[in-house]
Amino acid sequence: MDHFLYRGGALHAEDVPLSEIAEGAGTPTFVYSAATLRRHYRLFTEALDWAEASLVCFAVKSCSNQAVLSVLAAEGAGMDVVSGGEYARARTAGVPGERIVFSGVGKTRDEMRAALEGGVRQFNVESEPEMRALSEVASSLGVEAPVALRVNPDVDARTHEKIATGKAENKFGVPIARAREVYTEMARLPGLRVRGVDVHIGSQLTDLEPFEEAYGKVADLTRALRGDGHSIDRLDLGGGLGIPYETSNEAPPLPLEYGALIRRTVGDLGCEIEIEPGRLVSGNAGLLLSRVIWLKEGEGRDFLILDAAMNDLIRPAMYGAWHDIVPVREAEPGAERRPFDVVGPVCESGDTFARQRPLPPMGEGDLVAFRSAGAYGAVMSSEYNTRPLAAEVLVDGDRWAVVRPRPTVEAMIARERVPDWLDAHG
Ligand code: LLP
Repeated sequence: MDHFLYRGGALHAEDVPLSEIAEGAGTPTFVYSAATLRRHYRLFTEALDWAEASLVCFAVKSCSNQAVLSVLAAEGAGMDVVSGGEYARARTAGVPGERIVFSGVGKTRDEMRAALEGGVRQFNVESEPEMRALSEVASSLGVEAPVALRVNPDVDARTHEKIATGKAENKFGVPIARAREVYTEMARLPGLRVRGVDVHIGSQLTDLEPFEEAYGKVADLTRALRGDGHSIDRLDLGGGLGIPYETSNEAPPLPLEYGALIRRTVGDLGCEIEIEPGRLVSGNAGLLLSRVIWLKEGEGRDFLILDAAMNDLIRPAMYGAWHDIVPVREAEPGAERRPFDVVGPVCESGDTFARQRPLPPMGEGDLVAFRSAGAYGAVMSSEYNTRPLAAEVLVDGDRWAVVRPRPTVEAMIARERVPDWLDAHG
C-alpha cells in the first residue's frame, strides 16, 4: 500500500495535492512519500522479527536521494552500496559504517580503502582477484576487513534477463561449487575476517520459489563451511522481491511471506540475517509527475506528448517495463477511455512509455503521474537531449520540499570546458 490517493477528485501525495507540487516545482518531477518509505521498510523489519539479529540494508542504487536515505537512516536502516559514491551518500545521510554493506563486482582499491577508513559492516566479495586485493589493502592499513563471499547459486530467478544475476552465465559472484575452496584461501589471507555468505539472484522476482532454491543451497553451504572450520555468523540474502507495477495484475508475494521463507530455509542456522531490498522499499513510494505538452492526433493513433521522457524514466525503453499512468485530476465516473501512445519529446522512437494505453480524456496542460517510479527512476536518468534532470520532491504528511532542484541549462553548460588551445571561434 502507498500514500498516493485521490481525494476530492485530485491525486494527492499523502496530504499534498500533486497539482500544488507541479505548480511549485514544475514538471517533470519525482515525488516521494516519506510515510510509504517508512511503511515499506518496516514491513521487512517485521518480517524478520523472528530472527535473533537482523539488518535490513536498503539498496541505495534504487533511489539515492539524500532526503530518502535520511528518512530510512532515521528508522535505523542499514544500507547496501555498490560504489564509493553510494558509500559517501549513505555516510552523508547519517548511516554509521557498521550498518553499511559494500557489494558490487568491480570495487576498486580506492573504494575499498575509503570504506575501510570510514567504517564498514562487511564487503560482499565477488571474485578471487577482488578478495586478494582487499587482503592487501586492509593489511596495508593494519586492519581486518569483514567479508562474505557472494556465491552464484545457478538459479533461474524467472525475471527479465537484464536483471537476473544468479545464473552461472551471469558476471556475479563465485560459482557455489567452488565456494569452499575460495573460503579456504580467504581464511588464510591476512587482513580478512570471514563473517558470512552472501547471495543475490535478481530483481523484480514475483515468485518465491527461486529464493527458496537459492537459500536452500546457501544453508547447505553454510553447514559445509562450518564443518570446514569457518565461523559463519551472518547471511546476506540480497534483495529482489518484486512489486506490483500493474495494479490489475496479481500481487507478488508479501514481505511477510518472504520472511517466513527465510525462516524456513536458513532460520535454524542461528545466523544474523541481512537483506538488501531496494525496489520494494522505494518503488511504490515514488511517482513521476509530468504534464502533457501536446495531444497529437495521428492517423489511427493519438499521441500524448509529455514533458517527461526516456531520459527521466528509462525503464519502459530499457526493459519494456510497464508503469501505470494515471491522471492527476480524477476521471469523471463513467468517462470513456480511449487508447493513446504516451511518449516523450526525445528524438527516438524508443522514447515511448506506453502504446495504445486506454486513458480517460486528456489533453494539453493536463498532469499525469507514472506510478511505481521511486525505484530505478531518478537514479537512472540522464541529460540526453540536454534535458535538465527532473526535480525531486519529498512529501511528509502535509509538508513538502524540493530535495533536488532541477538544474538550469546554464548550469549544465557551465560544467563543461573548452580548452584554451582550441580556437573555438575560428
Ligand atoms: N542487492 C544487490 C547485490 C543488487 O544487485 C540489487 C539490485 C539489489 C540488492 C536490490 O534489488 P531490488 O530489491 O531493488 O530488486 N534497473 C533495474 C533493476 C536493477 C537491479 C540491480 N540490482 C530495473 O529498473 O528494473
